[in-house]
Amino acid sequence: PKIYVITPTYARLVQKAELTRLSHTFLHVPQLHWIVVEDSPHPTSLVTDFLAASGLTYTHLHKLTPKDRKLQEGDPSWLKPRGAEQRNEGLRWLREMGAAAEGKEAAALEEAVVYFADDDNTYSLQLFEEMRYTYRVSVWPVGLVGGMKFERPVVEDGKVVRFHTGWRPNRPFPIDMAGFAVSLRTVMTNPEARFDGDAQMGFLESSFLQNLVTMDDLEPKADLCTKVLVWHTRTEKPKMKREDALQKQGLGSDPDVEI
Ligand code: UGA
Ligand code: MN
Repeated sequence: PKIYVITPTYARLVQKAELTRLSHTFLHVPQLHWIVVEDSPHPTSLVTDFLAASGLTYTHLHKLTPKDRKLQEGDPSWLKPRGAEQRNEGLRWLREMGAAAEGKEAAALEEAVVYFADDDNTYSLQLFEEMRYTYRVSVWPVGLVGGMKFERPVVEDGKVVRFHTGWRPNRPFPIDMAGFAVSLRTVMTNPEARFDGDAQMGFLESSFLQNLVTMDDLEPKADLCTKVLVWHTRTEKPKMKREDALQKQGLGSDPDVEI
């Protein structure tokens, strides 16, 4: 089965480095279709050129987060959810593509899976083989998240019975975005399911999952959720002290060089 990976991304100094790292992981994954959704009013040349040269099968979309929903300079990062509108745009494309498919292609899509991969996390290749066969929603541990070494679904007798998390364990689904995949069939048969851009901190994943499954339906992967195969890494914001100082003297780095 095919894996459709939806990645929200936005312009910043480390964007091309993040996309480079991510694309090099995906190049090792068979049958992967990358849906890149820019948080921008139009496709940027950086991402357009990057994807064209990537060697991957991809779809390039864009959807600007409305200003009242976007973090402003100086806001704490937890204030508003990130990537919600972009993931919804990816889902819209998938549903449209799924509805238009016919015959063999439609049959193949019945088995496909959808994963939401942020551009800054670290993904093992094994993770994609774990998620590849997903009936409704599959789940697994995520490392370095939520102020913990890892968070994970706790499995008893092959079923998820609760979640190991340090914070608000009573959320409907206390799972990071990186910790689940959903079948395309489930996305298609629940056309209303989407991410709530107004969700309060920590509830973005639940806003999508609670309309799709119950805890009982979850399919535990990664050796019954005992293996960490994805890490919620975050890239440090580069300091531009010297650049700013040089720029004041007219000696800044050539703006025509893409970084
Ligand atoms: C955590 C989760 O891992 C995210 O999946 C979740 O969206 C986020 O919290 C949240 O609560 O909204 P975190 O590392 O804090 O992740 O979020 P980022 O990695 O900064 O952003 C998630 C994705 O959205 C990234 O792919 C990023 O490129 C994208 N993003 C971020 C945008 O498209 N626009 C923005 O303004 C910011
Ligand atoms: Mn992140």
